[in-house]
Amino acid sequence: MKKGEGKQPKDMDKQVKIGLMGLGTVGAGVYKILKENRQVIFERAGTEFEITKILVRDPAKPRSLQIDTGLLTANPDDILADDDISVVVELIGGIEPAYQYIEAALKNGKHVVTANKAVIAAHGARLIETAAQKGVDLYYEGSVGGGIPIIKPLRESLVGNQIEEIMGIVNGTTNYILTKMSQEGAAFHDVLVDAQKLGYAEAEPADDIEGYDAANKLVILASLAFQTPLSVRQVYCEGITRITPDDIAFADHFGYAVKLLAIAKRRSDGIEARVHPTFLPKDHPLASVNGVFNAIFVKGDAVGELMFYGRGAGDLPTGSAVVADIVDVLRNRKRGAHHRVETLWENVPLRPMEDVATRYYVRLHAQDKPGVLAQVAASFGAEAVSIESMLQQGRGKDQPVPIVFITHEVKEKQMQASLERIGTLPSIKDIANVIRVEGGRPL
Ligand code: NAP
Ligand code: HSE
Repeated sequence: MKKGEGKQPKDMDKQVKIGLMGLGTVGAGVYKILKENRQVIFERAGTEFEITKILVRDPAKPRSLQIDTGLLTANPDDILADDDISVVVELIGGIEPAYQYIEAALKNGKHVVTANKAVIAAHGARLIETAAQKGVDLYYEGSVGGGIPIIKPLRESLVGNQIEEIMGIVNGTTNYILTKMSQEGAAFHDVLVDAQKLGYAEAEPADDIEGYDAANKLVILASLAFQTPLSVRQVYCEGITRITPDDIAFADHFGYAVKLLAIAKRRSDGIEARVHPTFLPKDHPLASVNGVFNAIFVKGDAVGELMFYGRGAGDLPTGSAVVADIVDVLRNRKRGAHHRVETLWENVPLRPMEDVATRYYVRLHAQDKPGVLAQVAASFGAEAVSIESMLQQGRGKDQPVPIVFITHEVKEKQMQASLERIGTLPSIKDIANVIRVEGGRPL
């Protein structure tokens, strides 16, 4: 008998068998929710389900979760090659081997739920295609914004709109760090250690603090919103490691909060996609999103402005999104309606970063002597950069003093050219930081 012959089709099984890959922060959260809310989830999904295998790196590792250790395995084939398992939930993280496992699961006709933004950002288009060919589901709500529903709204609820803009705080770790720095004057590295202990941070801290995690999430959001495949390499990405207490204090002085934003905008000649620290007016809805909370601000041509807000990381919030996807798969499975969401790819070009226009905050250290300001102003002026506000702090005798500018809107290439000029002035000690300003002027 050939493999699979004489068996009931998988979708006709009474009890759906789920293979969980990963039992770390999110895996444990999913396990807890499925256990605690088993009855309601069962009623809502209309199908019984059971986790029959859990892939971990080290099955012998002590775990705080009460679990039947007989479920644990270090062999991925115990899930991928098990014909009885029809849903795979991938929560191990990183690109490899997670990508291989997801692809193998889809090719074996299994539905996949994942919270892995790195894999979806890098290989989402290919995986969506494989899922379509195989007639199975691939859901990834937990990959952006933790517990916030944002993938489904973009994929389904807002499908009648042309999305014009997405602006989001999509990394809980950096928002937690910036919030603690601005509210408590805490030091960057102490707060990063806190975020790691709380289970918010990625295994590799650079993924959070250098903005790569936010860039992955932006790729996922922008690809869906603009129906255009994007790659993380195309996203301009700058993290928060250069932000100092001085920047936060100057932002406060001018009426702004500092946030790491993931921004995607549709312009007449293409898409902008960028991640960078940003001065936002304190009265902007995103400016009061603090701690590990995330928020995604979306502008559609029909719906207008929307904001999605909630916990962007952590075991139960992210688990909530993953469980919702599992229920969607179970419902689709019950109705025989897999892969019911079509994805059309447009190919809108990406605008080069040098053509992106924003306002800027520039902090530099200069000698405090006659004529210095005029030289700086002339360097800005030579590249058509217009100054909106300026502040010199303190009076330096032998020490350079900080001088801060906020400019009117100008293209990146003009700003960079003016900074090059300023950097060569003998009276300028350094250009300490340059941060883009978005969201209008403070009231
Ligand atoms: P985590 O705490 O590091 O847990 C990873 C789990 O996967 C562990 O159980 C580990 O096994 C297992 N694992 C790792 N590599 C493996 C391998 N090669 N083979 C077999 N098992 C392996 O990770 P997490 O924070 O839960 O994140 C999981 C995924 O969710 C990631 O894609 C992450 O980006 C995403 N996510 C996380 C959050 C969050 O708040 N943490 C929020 C949204 C999305 P051991 O237990 O034996 O070490
Ligand atoms: N490290 C991520 C964050 C986890 O801090 O937002 C959620 O994706």
